[in-house]
Amino acid sequence: MTLQGFRGEILSLSCDPAEGPDPVRHEADGFLVIEDGRIAARGPFADVSLHFPGLAVEQLRGLIVPGFIDAHVHYPQLGRIASHGEQLLDWLERHIFPAEKAFADPVHAAGVAEEFLGELLRHGTTSALVFGTVHAASVEAFFAAAEARELRMICGKVLMDLGPEGLRDTVEAARAETEALIAKWHGRGRLQYAVTPRYALTSSDAQLAVAGELLAAHPGVLLHTHLAENKAEIAAVAARFAEAVDYLDAYDRFGLVTDRSVFAHGVHLPDRSCERLAEVGAGIAVCPSSNFFLGSGMFDFAQAERHGVRLGLGSDIGAGTSLSLLHNAGLAYQAGLPGGYVLDPFRALWLATGGSARLLHIDGEVGLLAEGQEADFVVLDDAATPLMARRTAGASLAERLFAMQTLGDDRAVRQTYVMGRCVWDRDTGHGHA
Ligand code: GUN
Ligand code: ZN
Repeated sequence: MTLQGFRGEILSLSCDPAEGPDPVRHEADGFLVIEDGRIAARGPFADVSLHFPGLAVEQLRGLIVPGFIDAHVHYPQLGRIASHGEQLLDWLERHIFPAEKAFADPVHAAGVAEEFLGELLRHGTTSALVFGTVHAASVEAFFAAAEARELRMICGKVLMDLGPEGLRDTVEAARAETEALIAKWHGRGRLQYAVTPRYALTSSDAQLAVAGELLAAHPGVLLHTHLAENKAEIAAVAARFAEAVDYLDAYDRFGLVTDRSVFAHGVHLPDRSCERLAEVGAGIAVCPSSNFFLGSGMFDFAQAERHGVRLGLGSDIGAGTSLSLLHNAGLAYQAGLPGGYVLDPFRALWLATGGSARLLHIDGEVGLLAEGQEADFVVLDDAATPLMARRTAGASLAERLFAMQTLGDDRAVRQTYVMGRCVWDRDTGHGHA
């Protein structure tokens, strides 16, 4: 048995501030005790340290928060971030589909998977719900890389039998490859699987039906897709699925709207869709930097809150402009304001940690820094730049958090820990052991 003790300022949210009173758990001088990679105890140093006499104490400089959980990201798009000039449908054709074709090569996939995971950890993200490409080999490469780093990750092969030439599967290949990937990887260590139809427009009715069958046949598996991101996309969905009452209903008809369904974006949703999402317990990965970058629109937090829709936060790289969920939290605040919604910085932190964890059904394991959970956490530096130091000096906890979200990004992540191991240290440039 290994026991570790970390002393420092600790902050987490124990539930959604929009739902319950007093969700903030904060120790100005806290103690985190980790036994074999899991949190054995947490609380004020003065109290908790009494129960662990003789335990070596490592002082951490900064604010300890749960590792960030990216609820929607495409690892194969890492190299296409910042591709100029188009909204969603043209951007996919011009920049994304050509880049994804390269993932037929497992060596290329393995290289990008490695770089992507290194970048995630550098940005303080320790878990994510990840799109592969249409190639099963892309998911093999990703899971192998995540397993080697002992990360809690969820991924899936993209189903797209109506995709462009060279990036299409078939109904039967989609079924067989997904079944094989689930059998090999789902539940192996910290890895889980998500059935991943790209979006309504790139799958035939027959393939959407297969996705529904796969989801029903594997109760622990998630459904991961895109929903109501862009106006031209929504018009095309309405034209193809004439009998569906709205975009969500096009998925619902194939059994794809369940409590294990995660929909990216949901920027333009009728109230009916929000009611339906809330009714079944499905949720949305809000991706503000992507929505700004592609000119898709701004997520309506007030509408989602009115209906009680479950939310998490996603970077949506390569449409997103930063892997940093701190930065995306800051942009979520800016997305809310025009609709009259003032996103509280504690709720923004919740979306990036416990909210995403709950959306992904991994909140039993990560996201809360609670006793019994896996010890994935980050140490934030609220003085990472001269301007941040100036803004946060003497400020309240809420102000410091908001300043980190507004001004911070990977520079504000001093260290990242996975299962109690330091896997990224900004000041030395590496992880240790
Ligand atoms: N809709 C369908 N595919 C994609 C994608 O790769 N990125 C985004 N942002 N939206 C999509
Ligand atoms: Zn996406």
